[in-house]
Amino acid sequence: MNKKELQEEILRLKKEKDICILAHAYQDHELWEVADYMGDSFGLSLQAQKAQQQNVIMCGVRFMAETVKTLAPDKRVWIANERAGCPMADQMDREDVLRLKERYPDYTVCAYINTTADLKRAVDVVVTSSSAMKIIGQLPDEKILFIPDRNLGGWIAKQMPEKTFAFFDGGCPSHMKITPEDVERARREYPEAQILVHPECVAAVAEGADYVGSTTGIMKYAKESEGSQFIIGTENSIVEHLRIECPDKQFAALSPLCVCPNMRMTTLEDLYGCIMGTAGEEILLSPQEIEESRRPIDRMIELGG
Ligand code: 13P
Ligand code: SF4
Repeated sequence: MNKKELQEEILRLKKEKDICILAHAYQDHELWEVADYMGDSFGLSLQAQKAQQQNVIMCGVRFMAETVKTLAPDKRVWIANERAGCPMADQMDREDVLRLKERYPDYTVCAYINTTADLKRAVDVVVTSSSAMKIIGQLPDEKILFIPDRNLGGWIAKQMPEKTFAFFDGGCPSHMKITPEDVERARREYPEAQILVHPECVAAVAEGADYVGSTTGIMKYAKESEGSQFIIGTENSIVEHLRIECPDKQFAALSPLCVCPNMRMTTLEDLYGCIMGTAGEEILLSPQEIEESRRPIDRMIELGG
């Protein structure tokens, strides 16, 4: 089958088999075209609860599929490519959190959604890049232990001097490849352009940008802005999507190195195989895991709206 035939077959099969396809913003455009919903981590979490279908396939990385299963435990949930993990989510496990809690006993533990379901069982609240400011701002607690992303945590802390933060030294290996020199070069080469970056970038990059936000935040900003040139500091798939969606504007990558091999792993063939039961993996979590990891995610949704 060529690409078009494969897409048509996926569209037909998902109706026949009562499947909802969720795609993270970093997935290929050809996956967006067959998805029921595309968005950032926060949007995908909300959608997990809203989906009418009995079956859900996540085109993204494992923690996203686990979040769907946690929020919709009565549905069957699959990850389209079982090898797609998030290296940042693998930097820390539940034991690490329990050890840190002993060191910071009076801190509220706030975990980035890019963590395993097992780790979430030991934390107080979950946040995403788009909801973190709102959620942490609403917490009555003054002391926040933010895990695992030091860069996202530092970016939030800078805007909330009224709170005290402690961090774990984790981060996204792909976003941390963008350097302050990339920002300087972009300013020289494209003096008219606006620089839009993800808060997973190191502080010196975020500080030099015109806008810092989630994947869909960056896309919304570029689409709605009066400007015509944008330099994108997040996974470079977003540059491709924006070129397709806004053909009248110009987009360039802040660094050619900001590529996440895990987010690039899932193909249309994987999705088709997952629908046919020959690829992917069903996400199975015990009732106890679901109950315990759901509590901080529900708190995020409650506070994040
Ligand atoms: P978003 O919350 O912007 O979707 O980010 C998820 C992610 O993995 C970024 O690297
Ligand atoms: Fe994880 Fe970074 Fe890849 Fe996002 S881009 S999935 S945080 S490794």
